Amino acid sequence: MVQSQPIPHMNNKTIPLLTLLMAATSLQAAEPAAHRPATESMAYACAGCHGTNGHGIAPTPSIAGKPETDFVEAMLDFKSGKRESSIMNRIARAYTEEDIAALAHFFKKR
Ligand code: HEC
Repeated sequence: MVQSQPIPHMNNKTIPLLTLLMAATSLQAAEPAAHRPATESMAYACAGCHGTNGHGIAPTPSIAGKPETDFVEAMLDFKSGKRESSIMNRIARAYTEEDIAALAHFFKKR
């Protein structure tokens, strides 16, 4: 009998299956980034109180142009509860450290 398949467990179905598996794997890897809202969208959530692009509406402090280190420190302190604010404690908890860094960078440039 002639051996038509040089690699024993490889048949015509193996290639499409492998392709599908690779596609699924790369989709899975891309998921967190795709589900993370764009920085600008996150910043819209702050505008109601902090004004457009963070240019404060009194009495809410302006966050536009705030040094990134101060911004991150304030947000992390709100998140941990070290700094008390009934509003900002709840808001800060909704953001990851990565989100906060992105927001700090965004508002610094406004
Ligand atoms: C419902 C109103 C409200 C929203 C929405 C809001 N904030 Fe605030 N934020 C405040 C108030 C009020 C303070 C002042 C809190 C205090 O000092 O006790 C504050 C303080 C801050 C501070 C500290 C400012 C400083 O100079 O000390 C930062 C940073 C900040 N907010 C970031 C944000 C970000 C980022 C968002 C959006 C993700 C946001 N806030 C959304 C009301 C809000």
